[in-house]
Amino acid sequence: MNAERLNQHLRRTLPHGRVALTHPAGCPELGLYLFDPDVLEGPLTHEQAQAVVAEPAYWSFCWASGQVLAHYILTHPEVVAGRRVIDFGSGSGIVAVAAAKAGAAEVVACDLDAQALDAASANAAANGVSVNLCSDWFQRPGEFDLVTAADVLYDPENRVFLEAFCQVAPQVLLADSRVKDLGDARYRRLGVRSCSTWPDLNEFEEFNQVRLYAVGEGFPAV
Ligand SMILES: C[S@@+](CC[C@H](N)C(=O)[O-])C[C@H]1O[C@@H](n2cnc3c(N)ncnc32)[C@H](O)[C@@H]1O
Repeated sequence: MNAERLNQHLRRTLPHGRVALTHPAGCPELGLYLFDPDVLEGPLTHEQAQAVVAEPAYWSFCWASGQVLAHYILTHPEVVAGRRVIDFGSGSGIVAVAAAKAGAAEVVACDLDAQALDAASANAAANGVSVNLCSDWFQRPGEFDLVTAADVLYDPENRVFLEAFCQVAPQVLLADSRVKDLGDARYRRLGVRSCSTWPDLNEFEEFNQVRLYAVGEGFPAV
């Protein structure tokens, strides 16, 4: 998997779309192929804007929650070292790549968007690690010690996965800036970090306050 394949994906909706290797401000330890904002020389046409909204390339951005969780994992590699990790809603792969770099025994990037899995593969290679890919949470390969998930609760239908994560692994690490009350006492808040989507989408300030949660023991506070 390489950057040109990711460019082709972007060009399905934006004729001049391309990725660039960049270091997200919230997790500068990683270099990732993400949307290159330099190609936007003016406002999008109505058709382009509609195409982008209809098929958003979530994988071409690092969301604030993903950066915070990836940076947490790289700062505390012991939380993943030697463990089998599955990252739900992996997008660019930032969290999966961080887990692999931090010494996880096995990492699976799970995303229902096939383009996102290409991005996770390319971004793993860009960081000298490899991750396994899974397009369907319900067909995940094997057993896991830890589930990670960042910025996946924007879709209310995904709230059910809070329960599902706990059934799949004894430990869960979740980062989210959209839902203020998870309504599940098993998720213990480790702290709050301020971060912006990269490249910056100028989201509302409230979405830049990322809450980090853990299920299970042994996770340092932030
Ligand atoms: C906002 S992006 C976050 C990406 C990455 N975790 C980050 O923080 O940068 C959400 C991702 O979750 C994926 N996703 C949403 N619902 C999903 C589901 N039910 N199963 C697998 N992936 C899902 C989307 O395709 C998208 O790539």
